[in-house]
Amino acid sequence: MSWLFWIVFGIILAFGLVVFRGAPYVPSHRRQVERAFTKLRPLRKSDVVIDAGSGDGVILRLASRKGARAVGYELNPLLVLISRFLSRRDERVQVRLGDFWRVSLPEDTTLVYGFMVERDIKKMANKMQQEANRLGRTLEFISYGSSIPEMKATGQLGAHHLYRFEPLQRTEA
Ligand SMILES: C[S@@+](CC[C@H](N)C(=O)[O-])C[C@H]1O[C@@H](n2cnc3c(N)ncnc32)[C@H](O)[C@@H]1O
Repeated sequence: MSWLFWIVFGIILAFGLVVFRGAPYVPSHRRQVERAFTKLRPLRKSDVVIDAGSGDGVILRLASRKGARAVGYELNPLLVLISRFLSRRDERVQVRLGDFWRVSLPEDTTLVYGFMVERDIKKMANKMQQEANRLGRTLEFISYGSSIPEMKATGQLGAHHLYRFEPLQRTEA
């Protein structure tokens, strides 16, 4: 019986510990995401979509269905395995085990998706701005649920908010 205890303990740990780094696992509402990727921010084949905490990979698969490339970062190794399995035949989807706060976005990123807790939304806005500055071009961000305080969304559809982050120019001394 002790192996069963350790398996259950491991699963609880994998799902529980992430709350110190971000939102716990709750998948986005599939139909709402489909509408967001069609009406709020129509996806193009040239898009590279990043999911910051990709869960079971639902966002990645929906983005790929629209022809975009999609990369997910996920802290929970069980969810990484599940999402890799569910997208195993899809070359446009990649799932990376890691902490989103610690990664630099891929150079060709166009859109970032985040279903995060309210607590992290300002931190996310800062990260998006830093990455837009680093890459030297506009990045878009879709937030599911939370809106960014003191920032005007460029669009909204149901619980999805769309933001644009323009690179800030450095002023020469
Ligand atoms: C609310 S769920 C959203 C899942 C998916 N994006 C969706 O919309 O269906 C948040 C996910 O982010 C993961 N997560 C939380 N903090 C993270 C971090 N710092 N880096 C990577 N993944 C994280 C959790 O394990 C969880 O699967």
